[in-house]
Amino acid sequence: MKKQLETIFVCANCGNEFPKWSGQCSACHEWNSLREVKSLGKKIKGTTTRVARTGEVKNLSKIEGRPQGSAHTITFSTDINEFDRVLGKGIVRGQVVLFAGEPGIGKSTLLTQLLGKIGGLYVAAEETAEQIALRVERLGLDKDKFNILETNVVEEIEEIIERTKNVFKIVVVDSIQMVSCAESSGTPGSLTQIRESTFRLVEMAKKSGIAIFIVGHVTKEGDIAGPKMLEHMVDTVLYFEGEKNGELRILRVNKNRFGPTDEVGVFKMEEKGLREISSEEVSLIDSKVPQIGSTISMVMEGSRPLLVEIQALVTESFSQIPKRIFSGIDYNRGQLLVAVAQKVLGIPLYKEDVFVAVSGGIKISDPGVDLAVIGAIYSSYKNLPLTLKSVFNLNPSAVKAASPLDKGDLKQKAPVLMGEVSLLGKVRKVKMEERRVKEIKSLGLEVLKIEEIGELKKYSA
Ligand code: TYD
Ligand code: MG
Repeated sequence: MKKQLETIFVCANCGNEFPKWSGQCSACHEWNSLREVKSLGKKIKGTTTRVARTGEVKNLSKIEGRPQGSAHTITFSTDINEFDRVLGKGIVRGQVVLFAGEPGIGKSTLLTQLLGKIGGLYVAAEETAEQIALRVERLGLDKDKFNILETNVVEEIEEIIERTKNVFKIVVVDSIQMVSCAESSGTPGSLTQIRESTFRLVEMAKKSGIAIFIVGHVTKEGDIAGPKMLEHMVDTVLYFEGEKNGELRILRVNKNRFGPTDEVGVFKMEEKGLREISSEEVSLIDSKVPQIGSTISMVMEGSRPLLVEIQALVTESFSQIPKRIFSGIDYNRGQLLVAVAQKVLGIPLYKEDVFVAVSGGIKISDPGVDLAVIGAIYSSYKNLPLTLKSVFNLNPSAVKAASPLDKGDLKQKAPVLMGEVSLLGKVRKVKMEERRVKEIKSLGLEVLKIEEIGELKKYSA
């Protein structure tokens, strides 16, 4: 029997639900973000309370953390180090992970590799079994590990999970935008369908103990027909980022009921799939020779140090309001750094368009990158590269300490800039400085230590 559908309005930005439509979400204050959703009458937010439970009170002393007779332990490894680190200790039984990213970034590839390691059920809602077989062959994985279910109907997934309860540890649903629920209205990919299907998958995971990875596509504009709204419903949200044309991919955790939320995993997309890489291999730097408008910084994303290049382009503006475009750093932070540079370095940026980008298409949340952003802006404005050259004149002891090998090319080296910049232009020490410096030295680079951004003037050659 079809259940009665109820109309509610869900904010696509924050996921809050309302009985009536309004132009602005009263929770997150976003405009025009409420979407009509037909629901089966269950409240989706705060899923933990709504998963089919018995309603019986249990004393915890009678409950085993490790379910008896179950083939699977509470947490298990993904067998991929970077993946485990991002998740915390690994995958938890019954965990629901939303795996979000732009189309073509490598979501299906990484999850195929995950199943290649630990086996499981792959629900192919987007591709055919042949296409997946092709990918499995290309990746050189063991086909035996894969069980494919070609469907885009959530009821069928439910039935299979019910029947195979203790067979699979994990199920991958690729992708949620293609899955629909027969009981619900709307076309696949609509908010109503995505929300209802996810809700059903979450219920299944909690009932069966199977961990479910739900793939969700995110569009460039960030209007994710889904992920934002789904964040409330799942245990963990992972974002897979990078520049499609580049090789580097960052796996970032955005929400996690069972682990840290500041870790990142780093991969390289190669001929034979995604390879985990060490910090030394993260080469986001075009050149270690100083270039106009470019600086190098060592940032920490979680416990991973990453060497990044910041590029700035400062050009005379012909519009009334000069352009400020930042990619990879927060817009408001970028605005603030432009203002500090203008005031403290005395460069008239109000007449200039300023563009700042982080190489490799990665997003940086570490404020330790501030100094490098200001350095790149200054260098571009002055049309001069920032070098270590003046270290020879200003800091003879540093030169003495350098190895004979270093001394020769110190002049040509691009310095690494690190530090959070205050509104007054003072440079604050970064957290975990020793860890970063060690990494920098191991890459044969030098840190430029300064206390105020005004000092940058001495280092432009
Ligand atoms: P895919 O995992 O299909 O992306 P998503 O599921 O996020 O949409 O990845 C697609 C891209 O990855 C495609 O452009 C080809 C590339 N790729 C490789 O470079 N190497 C590989 O081994 C595989 C399987 C894909
Ligand atoms: Mg895919």
